[in-house]
Amino acid sequence: MVFRQATWDEPLLIELSRKGRRGYSLPPMDNKIRSEVNNIEESLPSEMIRRESPGLPEISEPEIVRHFVRLSQMNFAIDLGMYPLGSCTMKYNPKVSQRIARNPRMAALHPYQHESTVQGTLEILYELEEMLAEISGMDCFSLCPAAGAQGEYVGALIVRNYLKDEGFADKDEMLVPDSAHGTNPASAAMAGFKVVKIPSSNEGIVTEEAVKKVLTKNTAGMMLTVPNTLGLFEKEILQVTKILHESNGLMYYDGANMNALLGHARPGDMGFDIVHINVHKTFATPHGGGGPGAGPVGVKSHLRDYLPVPLVSKSENSYILDYTVPRTVGHIKSFYGNSAVLLRAYCYILSLGKEGLKSVSEQAVLASNYLLSLIDKETFEITYSPKTLRKHEFVVSASPLKKKTGISAGDVAKAILDFGMHSPTTYFPLIVPEALMVEPTETEPLENLEAYAKILNDIASLSVTEKESILDSPVNTSIGRLDEYRASHPATMMLNWNKLPKSS
Ligand SMILES: Cc1ncc(COP(=O)(O)O)c(C=O)c1O
Repeated sequence: MVFRQATWDEPLLIELSRKGRRGYSLPPMDNKIRSEVNNIEESLPSEMIRRESPGLPEISEPEIVRHFVRLSQMNFAIDLGMYPLGSCTMKYNPKVSQRIARNPRMAALHPYQHESTVQGTLEILYELEEMLAEISGMDCFSLCPAAGAQGEYVGALIVRNYLKDEGFADKDEMLVPDSAHGTNPASAAMAGFKVVKIPSSNEGIVTEEAVKKVLTKNTAGMMLTVPNTLGLFEKEILQVTKILHESNGLMYYDGANMNALLGHARPGDMGFDIVHINVHKTFATPHGGGGPGAGPVGVKSHLRDYLPVPLVSKSENSYILDYTVPRTVGHIKSFYGNSAVLLRAYCYILSLGKEGLKSVSEQAVLASNYLLSLIDKETFEITYSPKTLRKHEFVVSASPLKKKTGISAGDVAKAILDFGMHSPTTYFPLIVPEALMVEPTETEPLENLEAYAKILNDIASLSVTEKESILDSPVNTSIGRLDEYRASHPATMMLNWNKLPKSS
């Protein structure tokens, strides 16, 4: 038997269409419905009434099901195998939360429904605001932002507006370490700040000394990720927040890596004024694929009045949407955030409880250090603080491998795909040449961690003995190695069906 593997030139539904085929048949209209349809038609302007069929594909049900199942097989998924993307974090999404989120009593709500009819959802959102505040050590939260990056933008707007109101309108510089995620400088720039880069020390952290060197009277604040993108705890954090505050600046915590700290340390206790939390990284909500996300923003009480609206508040007998936040940065997302994503975060937090969350971080940190301990460091070098334990993720450099064999971090990443696991994040953070950034998360069993380390070490050996096969990989995926320039350049990208080359 020949297995029919999905390929890149899978026919489109319109190409599968054959006249007269049906996936589903509606019962014939009875007279009552017919007359209602006629009434609607008569009430519409004649130029808006369709005269021809809309040209939809005509396909039987089994063919449609096969089409979508084949497409789903073209993609690697966290439900298929280990997906240790550092920083971007593909976390396992517990199915119980998915199931609860699919419940029609949650999923079928309409955002225009009157508040009195969505009290259950508002209660969940209110409680989530409180849980996030407790977990992060902040005073209050807005659940509105749709992603970490949007949370950062909101945070930067809060810094700008607050400082202006306090008489510091001249403060227009935002400090961002060179290890930061690209969204940090982008968000700061979008909010109108000049971005000032802080170089990491030889140890891979931000030092008090480095901050003092770039601090001026115009410094508005600093955006910092803890642990940072090298997986290292910023051990001078207390000194850094102190000097920023002494110069009337604000500290922004990029909470993308909070899954390393849950129940052990809180940004609120470290002196941060504003935080965002990537719920997809910390609280196992779905991530990626351009789908809905969430990046709740929390602040200390002196900044509450700047949070985006609406906040979910509690009056004597009910939950309400509060649009009366006096100095709000405004509406940044329709309605009150992506409630279905937030609901999953709520489920995750409740199902694990305080002790469970603590152990999530412990397991994530243990998994990352165990995996790192198994990797051949002569090939995959630790560039910063090699003797220091990592937090939930680590970064190694494939530079030694490249020097010895010509095989780059990108080649390693492609080769991993042929072993049935997903590649780590590559070429980030920018301060590590040939970077491979690995985050196994708390859910991978021991065997997978060991298998992943073996794959990396095997690829290192194959790079010497079978270099060509590494350069040809991946060969076991639906799509082989792409021409990365052509695949991402507007002039050569084929986004229009008419321009696709027909399959032979
Ligand atoms: C350190 C860090 N900051 C910010 C972000 C941006 O978050 P999001 O992808 O939710 O916009 C990411 C992305 O995962 C990240 O790794």
